Amino acid sequence: MPAHTEQPITATAAPTVTVLGLGPMGRALAGAFLDAGLRTTVWNRTPGRDAELVARGAIGAGSAEEAVAASALTVVCVVNYDASDAVLRSPAVTDALKGRTVVSLTADTPDRARDTAVWAAGHGVGYLDGAIMTPTTTIGTPDAVFIHSGPEDLYLTHRPVLDALGGTHTHLGEDIGRAAAYDIALLDLFWTTIAGYTHALALARAEGVTARELTPFAQGIAAILPPLFEAGAEETDSGRHSGEGNPLTSAVSSMAHVVHVSESHGIDASVMRSAEGVARRAIGLGHGTDGFTRLAEVLGRR
Ligand SMILES: NC(=O)c1ccc[n+]([C@@H]2O[C@H](COP(=O)([O-])OP(=O)(O)OC[C@H]3O[C@@H](n4cnc5c(N)ncnc54)[C@H](OP(=O)(O)O)[C@@H]3O)[C@@H](O)[C@H]2O)c1
Repeated sequence: MPAHTEQPITATAAPTVTVLGLGPMGRALAGAFLDAGLRTTVWNRTPGRDAELVARGAIGAGSAEEAVAASALTVVCVVNYDASDAVLRSPAVTDALKGRTVVSLTADTPDRARDTAVWAAGHGVGYLDGAIMTPTTTIGTPDAVFIHSGPEDLYLTHRPVLDALGGTHTHLGEDIGRAAAYDIALLDLFWTTIAGYTHALALARAEGVTARELTPFAQGIAAILPPLFEAGAEETDSGRHSGEGNPLTSAVSSMAHVVHVSESHGIDASVMRSAEGVARRAIGLGHGTDGFTRLAEVLGRR
């Protein structure tokens, strides 16, 4: 396997970066690089999406290989790894990437990141995987949150360019799949929370409660979560699962109410039915006096 060797950059050269993929997030990333004064080259599969960035000073490349050849660091931010493979693994782009580094801020699975690491090592390409945990509006601001994994030396080399994106950057370790592992768990949390929120809106509406009326109380529920996560981490990692104050036998009863009222209004309750099913399984296994963190352990049993 050819070893990855960084292309030399002279101390006086202006920092450069290339962004592949100009969807909403790719455009936000490129915009932040431009705002930070980096010489920013951009490319997108569908032409024309670079117009506003070019007007702001970006260099619009005519091809992906031309784009990656312009910078020591390429940030790829497309819909998934099928899309990034289609771009990066074309022979001309792979060839142009030799001795350069790709940071993927494209969301996908840990296995896709590991597969890409093998491909990158085999072609002399430096590769870091990353994930963006906040929306486009945060990019370039202190509120942006980025996580990264892969070779630490490569991360430290390119950290000054990544810092132009604002926010916090956390290197989670050398295992290239680790950022995607965090991402997938956090996406699970986000989308099941949104599924619960939208379901609650439908249920409230069926009961004649407007979203506006519900909002201050919904925000109260959200405020309960951070301390719950603190306690949940302690209980999960210690395996104690204390149900003091809210045992599963009590929790399952309120889940059943949600199912009952939803279905009485003809509202699909399959998500809560599924959650209730897991809780009943845990109770059946003798964990009725445990707290909700026991459910993670039961879910993880094969
Ligand atoms: N938007 C957010 O708030 C947010 C937040 C966190 C993370 N992310 C992650 O950021 C990544 C990009 O998201 P996004 O919001 O910019 O929109 P997106 O819809 O996920 O991705 C759009 C980009 O993917 C490109 N693309 C799709 N299929 C392609 C293919 N086969 N070959 C080459 N390019 C292809 C599109 O090019 P065309 O224009 O040619 O279709 C466009 O540049 C995703 O992985 C997403 O999960 C987004």
